[in-house]
Amino acid sequence: MTDKRLVDGGNTDSHEEAAEKSLRPQTLAQYIGQDQIKHQLAVYIQAAKKREESLDHVLLYGPPGLGKTTLAMVIANELGVHIHTTSGPAIERPGDLVAILNELQAGDVLFIDEIHRLPKIVEETLYSAMEDFYIDIVIGQGPTAHPVHFPLPPFTLIGATTRAGLLSAPLRDRFGIVAHMAYYTEADLTDIVERSVDIFGMQISEEGAHEIARRSRGTPRVANRLLKRVRDFAEVSDQDVVDEKLAASALQQLQVDDHGLDNVDRKLLTMMIDYYHGGPVGLNTIAANIGEETETIASMYEPYLLQIGFLKRTPRGRIVTEQGYRHLGRPYPANQQ
Ligand SMILES: Nc1ncnc2c1ncn2[C@@H]1O[C@H](COP(=O)(O)OP(=O)(O)OP(=O)(O)O)[C@@H](O)[C@H]1O
Ligand SMILES: [Mg+2]
Repeated sequence: MTDKRLVDGGNTDSHEEAAEKSLRPQTLAQYIGQDQIKHQLAVYIQAAKKREESLDHVLLYGPPGLGKTTLAMVIANELGVHIHTTSGPAIERPGDLVAILNELQAGDVLFIDEIHRLPKIVEETLYSAMEDFYIDIVIGQGPTAHPVHFPLPPFTLIGATTRAGLLSAPLRDRFGIVAHMAYYTEADLTDIVERSVDIFGMQISEEGAHEIARRSRGTPRVANRLLKRVRDFAEVSDQDVVDEKLAASALQQLQVDDHGLDNVDRKLLTMMIDYYHGGPVGLNTIAANIGEETETIASMYEPYLLQIGFLKRTPRGRIVTEQGYRHLGRPYPANQQ
């Protein structure tokens, strides 16, 4: 096994990206879960098409691997328009933004991933583009500097972010449609595993699919990743159908426990218990103690531990809950009850 985290929702490498492409749903009907968002989008998309207008700008936010990029592609596909993909840190100057916007045809989708990382000056240029479909920029320097007014075709901006809290209010307010992606239910993840199994041409029992779903931290990317590892185990043991027993034993060997926690999660909780009596501990302190970036803890590890109730946020920092202690087989200190 590589030292890459099997159960983190983010950090895809180029290999995995290629595999993800083949697993990506193309239409809203194929897109599993997130029912409320899907239903709303279906209405807005239909209305925009009927009026022959561009769809309102869409902000997708939620933890890594929940299907934001996938949904952006599905939206463009359902609208029948091109999608132009870029990311916040890739647009360094207003001029870069002009170059991208210049490529758009009427109705196209511009997808900006990690939109919370747009440089401020680019963000400000984006406001008029989003609101009234034009940009004014200054070209040249010193005495030759002159303002240029660029009209733009109507387009739909789809922004994705794992950290909505880092988005400025003026930017957030310019999105007509804001969708908060939630962690997937086990039932949805089971469907996602079964869909991927079909695409891979494998076979799996319902219990086998459920076993993988249960350990996927509510995240489709993790479900697909675990499935691929389980497929390796099935191949090596010459088993045609993945059943519950095979899935469970494979995942156990991969040290993914039945809540989908891996060594890093357990290390994080254990460290908080052993060094800080279960907290409260600040994010920076947690990060320093387990050798990770604060940003990584905030966007990747913490949300799921909060979601399943193993961690709790307090004004003074994070604390390990009684459930968290229990999961690690540690007695919950009486003075914290
Ligand atoms: N609703 C879904 N139905 C089926 N498969 C899905 C769904 N959502 C995501 N997936 C699968 O999970 C993979 C990861 O999704 P995606 O890349 O869209 O996540 P993301 O939210 O953009 O992640 P990041 O924050 O890291 O950019 C996709 O390749 C796709 O196969
Ligand atoms: Mg993405």
